[in-house]
Amino acid sequence: MINFDPHTIRKNFPIFDRVENGQPLVFLDSAASAQKPNQVIDAMANQMRHSYANVHRGLYAMANEVTGLFEQAREGVANFINSEPSEIIFTKSATEGFNLLAHCLEDRLMANDVILVSEMEHHANIVPWHMLCARKGARLEWVRINDDGVLDLEDLRAKLSLKPKIVALSHMSNVLGTINPIAIIAAEIKSSGALFVVDGCQSIVHLTVDVKALGCDFYSFSGHKLYGPTGIGVLYGRRDILCDMPPFLGGGEMIDRVSKLGISFADAPQRFEAGTPPIIEAIGLKAAIDWLNAQDRPAIEAHEINLGSSLRERLSEIKGLKIYGNSPQKGAIVSFTIDGIHAHDIAQILDQMAICVRAGKHCAEPLMERMGMTSSVRASFGAYNYMDEVDALVKGLNKAQKLLS
Ligand code: ALA
Repeated sequence: MINFDPHTIRKNFPIFDRVENGQPLVFLDSAASAQKPNQVIDAMANQMRHSYANVHRGLYAMANEVTGLFEQAREGVANFINSEPSEIIFTKSATEGFNLLAHCLEDRLMANDVILVSEMEHHANIVPWHMLCARKGARLEWVRINDDGVLDLEDLRAKLSLKPKIVALSHMSNVLGTINPIAIIAAEIKSSGALFVVDGCQSIVHLTVDVKALGCDFYSFSGHKLYGPTGIGVLYGRRDILCDMPPFLGGGEMIDRVSKLGISFADAPQRFEAGTPPIIEAIGLKAAIDWLNAQDRPAIEAHEINLGSSLRERLSEIKGLKIYGNSPQKGAIVSFTIDGIHAHDIAQILDQMAICVRAGKHCAEPLMERMGMTSSVRASFGAYNYMDEVDALVKGLNKAQKLLS
């Protein structure tokens, strides 16, 4: 029995006052983007109302004040994942973090080099590497997953013998919910000589993440899945590697000096933050982290896992329904298909009942192909979901099946 009350949590989220066609909102799409607590909304609005200026430029009091808050946000993020502020790069999204790496690590690659990804990656952790391979004449290799959606560690080991320059893996699959044993495989990956990049978009929300304990070199995530705003992402990079990396975008803030003859660049992390950064978004992300830190995170995790397993159990009542991803280490993400009914049609019927799910390929086409599906319905949970909403989804799916088969 979990001693946790999502009703108390939900009071922080004004979106749930929304009523659609006389029905309360059932939001089961937090893996795409989470709803925002008042603490985040207020922090951002109040900042813009009462104290706003660009950062690292102005010499007046208000500019200094905002610069201080922006750097406190960096510190808050660093503490949240057990790193140093100088190892935190603010990006506009997790996707931008992977693109930054694919650009800044380019000089380390030569023709015929290998970049290793897995079959369960999100496109954000595939496409930038594909593009890098095309530029350099390098090649992508894929670590297999088994039919349960579990990373094949034997295959990973075999492919490490190809001496990849970069290994890029998800911590938690956005489709299957599989949690990969990053801390266990990191040492082997590092001793193969590869740089280890981790996609933390889903895991940062549901697990307590310590990048030092994970042993990765880079960890990228977005703010908006973590109950924070859109328009901000975080790329953690090991300090010694960041110091050796060339810049990403050029412009203000990332330079040390500029003359007609040349440029010298600022130190990391500013070297990677050209232009005006996401100031208000960083302050909003810090508010989201403060809010989350004030909650009982292990209780939230247990609650979400409980919602996920109850849903999986209840789904077995539905004829022709198949769940994808049966890893014993799994977060609160459940993907499924129903025989003879397209996932989009199911999502549309659910929408009429104010139930929000994601349906489609989930930006993970190689994974969909591996699992033999063209599209699936995905329900994903956040701290604010209720067990009643599992019931509502099951009821909605029964109705969809009646109407559509
Ligand atoms: N990556 C997000 C998802 O899985 C958008 O839905």
